[in-house]
Order: sequence, then C-alpha cells, then structure tokens
Amino acid sequence: MNVLNRKSSLSLPDVQRYIARPVIWGGAILLTLIGVANADPIEGQIIAEHSCAECHAVSGTAASPNAAAPPFRDVAAMPSTTKYSLQAFLHTSHSPMPNLILKPDDADDVIDYILSLKTRR
Ligand code: HEC
Repeated sequence: MNVLNRKSSLSLPDVQRYIARPVIWGGAILLTLIGVANADPIEGQIIAEHSCAECHAVSGTAASPNAAAPPFRDVAAMPSTTKYSLQAFLHTSHSPMPNLILKPDDADDVIDYILSLKTRR
C-alpha cells in the first residue's frame, strides 16, 4: 500500500476530465438554458401557466379548468386571432378576468406563446 501514490492519484488530466470539463460544459449548458428562457414564447408559457392556467388550458389537449374560458390552442386556432387582437384583448379589462393586468412585456410574451400554438398545429 503506497499512501503517497494514492494521494497523487488525482492527476492533472483527471482534474481536467472530472472537474474542469464538467464545469465548462455545465456553464455552457446553463447559459444556453438562460438564453432559451429569454425567448418570448417560452417565457410567455411560464407566465401563462402562472397567471392564466387557473381558468384556461394553457398547453396540451386537456379541457380548460374553467369551462367558459377557451383553451389557448382554440384561441390560437381562431382565424381572428392575431397579435393585434390579443394585444387589444389583453390591454382592456375583461369582465371574467378582473384585475388581470399583465406588464406590457409579459403580455407580449404571452401573446407570442399563444401565437406559437397557431403555427404548431
Ligand atoms: C378567472 C378566470 C380567467 C383567468 C385567470 C384568465 N382568463 Fe382569459 N378568459 C376567461 C373567460 C371565462 C373567457 C371567455 C369569456 C369571454 O370571451 O367573454 C376568457 C377569454 C380569454 C380570451 C379571449 C378568447 C376569445 O374568444 O377571443 C383570451 C385571449 C384570454 N382569455 C386570455 C387570457 C390570458 C392571456 C390570461 C392570463 C394572462 C387569462 N386569459 C386568464 C377567464 C379567465
């Protein structure tokens, strides 16, 4: 048993392989994820899950929790749905949605998300 040998068993190449590379890759992946999270529709989905999912089916094919609230995929599928119609809708007060005031940036993200459901069909 050579204790000294054991101590030095973590050689420089090992350090590179097991520590430096994962740190570099981890950092790169993290930065990529942050970049993706900044993309509007994805941010919009997060906001929608948070603020709208109480009533609307935000994603997937399930029915809306509130039967009166159309699933976002149906909103997206309506020919009348455009960026401008959604902007108009989200910037005016809507009786079943009292106090639903999104920050303009957030509203734009949610709009991009809803519109992204249109192209995915
Ligand atoms: C408290 C329940 C509730 C919440 C929360 C809610 N909605 Fe609604 N929403 C409704 C109901 C009910 C309707 C249908 C009523 C109507 O069209 O007059 C509706 C209609 C809509 C429509 C119109 C669809 C059309 O016919 O043109 C859009 C767009 C919409 N909601 C977006 C949102 C967004 C975006 C959020 C989150 C930021 C949200 N809603 C949150 C209940 C809700």
